[in-house]
Amino acid sequence: MTIDAAAAPSPFLSGLLTPVTDERDDRDLEVVGELPAGLRGMFVRNGPNPQFAPIGRYHPFDGDGMVHAVYVEDGTARYRNRWIESKGLLAERKRGAAQFGGLAELSRIDPEVVAEAGIVKNTANTHTVRHADRILALMEACPPTQLSRELETLGEWDFDGRLQGAMTAHPKVDPVNGELHFFGYSPFPPYLRYHVADASGALVHSTDIELPDPVMMHDFALTEHHVLFLDAPALFDVHAAMAGGPLVRWEPEQGTRLGVLARRGDGASIRWFELDPSYVVHVFNAWDDGERIELRAPRFAAMPGGFAFDNPTGREAPMPWRWSIDLAAGTVHDEQTDDRAGEFPRVNDQLASRRTRYLYNCQARTWEFEFEFHGVVKYDLDADTSQARHYAPSEVSGEHVFAPDPDGTAEDDGWLLSFVTDRATDTTDLVVLDARDVAAEPVARVRIPRRVPIGFHANWLPDR
Ligand SMILES: [Fe+2]
Repeated sequence: MTIDAAAAPSPFLSGLLTPVTDERDDRDLEVVGELPAGLRGMFVRNGPNPQFAPIGRYHPFDGDGMVHAVYVEDGTARYRNRWIESKGLLAERKRGAAQFGGLAELSRIDPEVVAEAGIVKNTANTHTVRHADRILALMEACPPTQLSRELETLGEWDFDGRLQGAMTAHPKVDPVNGELHFFGYSPFPPYLRYHVADASGALVHSTDIELPDPVMMHDFALTEHHVLFLDAPALFDVHAAMAGGPLVRWEPEQGTRLGVLARRGDGASIRWFELDPSYVVHVFNAWDDGERIELRAPRFAAMPGGFAFDNPTGREAPMPWRWSIDLAAGTVHDEQTDDRAGEFPRVNDQLASRRTRYLYNCQARTWEFEFEFHGVVKYDLDADTSQARHYAPSEVSGEHVFAPDPDGTAEDDGWLLSFVTDRATDTTDLVVLDARDVAAEPVARVRIPRRVPIGFHANWLPDR
């Protein structure tokens, strides 16, 4: 039984989220405009695309991962999409039907399937990164899944058996020394672990960080000398979930804390700073500034609705924010930096963990559903200006990822890439914006001969 959109039991399986049912290869895609000569590599966009009709209530976090890639080679482009073939999906294919209940239906677990594929399906549906020449598809409840460049699933990668527990979907690569910094959280002790892999991919540092309660922690921040963790009261309650209740609940009276730890530090030496109750899903970037640390991120005043798995609709608009942490004084100053809500923040990753002049943030028409965007804003922190690009009323965009111009010298020499889907034609373009002038018309639109369902994170893996 595969997905029948007409009988879809969830709003998250219809419209622009309707899963696709095939794996395609399309070559020599039509290009409107001209692909820049410096743009050589692979655009990847991960997201949920369940192969089988779900058991009970479906949440977008549940769907089998599907990676959609556009390869830009010699001025031409080709498209390929593949399911991530997790053990859970293979167990379902064998049985011809969904076997995993998902986050809103945790109580539905078949012991035989658990024995075969684990208690949580490792959908790997959230993000795709490259480190030490491994392409890793990530989902924060599980270890990474390694993919080939042609998107074949090679299996889970546990750093030669050294990784204990899960890995966030938002690891950070230090652009100078090539280290990979990441964390994993768990509803069961230890609630938080911090890890470092060296440039060769060897896991060289792991430490537990004590938290009073298990919390859902989606992202973190890295500076040249520090790692920052946001301990916000989005509390796990597995017992409630097994009884059919919500898996995560918001407890604002418990407050939000910002933890600062030295890179490769012992978890016991983390320093906590109290913040107003708030939630950060993703960060732009963070950097050291003498005795201060600067953190930039969109800030939700409460847990986003998307984390309430039994009713996943947004209620809060995330506002651009800055936190300035004074390590000598032991204080944090924070303030809103713009009145335009936005999410899926990105920077030029060649400067991740160092100061970035430019921040890129996606704009949404509504925050009812949190990853359906319609444009991007570029902030210039030096000039204190911004520039925006919005797509046509019938169009919906995704995350805008920065692709550096290999011949460039300035921080914004490069392009912003995003999938843009037109509701009117039910097809998707890979849109290429000049990052130096995002308000200008796109320099190229690569026509994908199908609709790519709305999904999660995009990345650019340049040829080297
Ligand atoms: Fe994310």
